[in-house]
Parts: sequence; C-alpha cells; structure tokens
Amino acid sequence: MAIIEKVLVADISSMVDHVPSNYVRPISDRPNLHVVQPAEGSIPVIDLQGLDDDNNRCDIVKEIGKACEHAGFFQIKNHGIPQNVIDNMLRVSREFFRLPESERLKSYSNDPSKSVRLSTSFNISSEKVSNWRDFLRLHCYPLEDYLEQWPSNPPCFREEVANYSTKVRGLALRLLEAISESLGLERESIEKALGKQGQHMAINYYPTCPEPELTYGLPVHSDPNVITILLQDDVPGLQLLNNGRWVAVNPIPNTFIINIGDQIQVLSNGRYKSVLHRAVVNCDKERISVPTFYCPSPEAVIEPIGGLIDDNHPAIYKSFTYTEYYEKFWKRGLAIENCLDLFRTTQPLQVGNGEGVGN
Ligand code: OGA
Ligand code: NI
Repeated sequence: MAIIEKVLVADISSMVDHVPSNYVRPISDRPNLHVVQPAEGSIPVIDLQGLDDDNNRCDIVKEIGKACEHAGFFQIKNHGIPQNVIDNMLRVSREFFRLPESERLKSYSNDPSKSVRLSTSFNISSEKVSNWRDFLRLHCYPLEDYLEQWPSNPPCFREEVANYSTKVRGLALRLLEAISESLGLERESIEKALGKQGQHMAINYYPTCPEPELTYGLPVHSDPNVITILLQDDVPGLQLLNNGRWVAVNPIPNTFIINIGDQIQVLSNGRYKSVLHRAVVNCDKERISVPTFYCPSPEAVIEPIGGLIDDNHPAIYKSFTYTEYYEKFWKRGLAIENCLDLFRTTQPLQVGNGEGVGN
C-alpha cells in the first residue's frame, strides 16, 4: 500500500528510510539536536515524602514555589502513586499502539471536540508540516461520564487507565494545594478558581524516525491547561527552554515531570511560568509519554487571583473562560508566539516568550 494512504505515523515509519516530505521542517525550524545540553541540575527533583506532615511541608512547598517561578518545570519522586499502577499504564499504552492498524483506526478522529480519539501529529487540518507522533486522547474526569467510550482493546485498557487517572488526579490536587500555598494563598485557592475541573490524558506514541534532525515529535509549545503531570518511559525526547537554551530532560525512573501550564501563569499574575517545550524523536527506539492535563472546567472564568493583585502588581491578564482560551490555542496551532500574549491587559515590552529560541 502506498505511504500516502496511511494516516498514522507508526504505519508510515515501518515503511520508509527517509522522512516523507510533509514531515520535513524548514531549515530555520529544525531541532539542532547537537547543540542541546542535558538539563541536569536546572530542573529540580523534589521529594514529596513529608508533604503531608506539618514539619516538612513548609520546606517542600518553598521548593515547589521556587521551581514554578524559575524553571516552570520540576520532577517529583516519592509521589505516592504505586509502581505497579504506573507500570500497568505504560504496558497497556504500548499494547494499544501495537494493535493491528485496523484495530487502532477504530478510535481515529480529527474532531477535537470528541472525548476519545486517536489522531496523529497535532492538528492535521491546520498545520503545514506534520509531526512524528500518534496520540490517543482521553477525557478522564468525571470518570463515569467517559469510561464506556474508551477503547475496549486491549481488554484491560479501561481498568488500568482508570486506575492510573484516578491516582494522578489525587496527585494533581495535592500539587495544586502546594502551589497555592507557595503563592501565599489558601490551600484551596487554585482549585476553587477552576470550577468543576477537567482532566484529559494523552498517550503519545513516537515511532522510531529515520531522520530525527528533520522533524519533531511535537514542536515548541506551552501547555494551555493548568498543570501537566508527565509520565514517560525510559527513552529521552522531552526538551525545554531554560535561560534561552534548549535542554533535554533525561528520564529518571519512578519520577514524574511536572510543568506549569498557561492557566497558572494567569492565575499567579505572571509570577509562575508556563515554559516552552517540545518533543524530539530518535532513530533507535520508539517512545511513549503519557501527559495528564489538569484543566479548568470549560466555563470557568480565569483571571489573576485577587490576593495577588495590588497597586504595585496590577493584573496583567484579562478575564476569559477556559473555552475561549482553548479555542484560540487550538486554532492557532503550535505557534511559537505565546497564546497568553493574546490575553494580556498590556502588551509585554519584549516579544513574547518565544524570543531567544533561536532555531
Ligand atoms: C505534550 C507534551 C512532551 C512529551 O503532550 O503537551 O509536551 O515528552 N509532551 O511527550
Ligand atoms: Ni506539552
């Protein structure tokens, strides 16, 4: 069968020695993998052991606050999610992407309003160049509203993914409480600002790629949601912008990567940073990553939290509903200019977060 008839990059990758032309980035927009340094100490690893006891909480909350303010990213260990729940999540993800093409395609859709869908790249109806990624996106909360729509193959998919997503929700709430406190707010302040809240998950599958210098798994973007909890297998691929340079976050077993999304940048009135990041691919090993996107409910009105605004710190963002924000984000595609700039009360002196990306 001709490559052109394949929709999923997993099925294309097994047929080609070169990246097909619709995946090739212009020279000015390639990953320049040789100049990317390991993140090493610039992304802190925070131990959550003791977060729930009064003696240690204050120190851990401070560490989290510092990471949100500077790197926008941190890693967590002793997060309380059992290893077997994580292993099972990664196992069913792998099994899903190993199903025959015809079975995987049963979940395929390009309609972003669907609560369950398999797709490829990012938004194939708007983008000029495709990305070397397939993904299954699931709405996860409230679970009972969505579970029946999830894939029923592999047979234990629903059970394992439900178990994992429930545990991750608990972790997200603990982190949001800590982040609220780190801003000097009540524990529940951020949670209250989010309305009923939503939780989405992507299972990203990045097949091996014959020419990883020419394309992206996911091009540069910031996450439009509140906070992202990323589980990944042992294959590197995530890179983020740190002090104007791209750094690679190498997987550490039993940790999650946490990043601040655009909505916390707004709620914190710009104090905490939603940082640009991207996923690159490689020629040796397929990679799976499972981000959980914790979101406001669609109708929640997002604006800088009152307690963080005074005469010296006027609100730098307008009020908007999450639906308004998400629609803008989705329609624009993964553009390098920050979607957040469209919602500022005044335009920034510098040109968005994209300045200094330099590739
Ligand atoms: C994302 C994302 C990074 C990765 O899905 O938003 O940034 O490593 N993923 O897959
Ligand atoms: Ni992301």
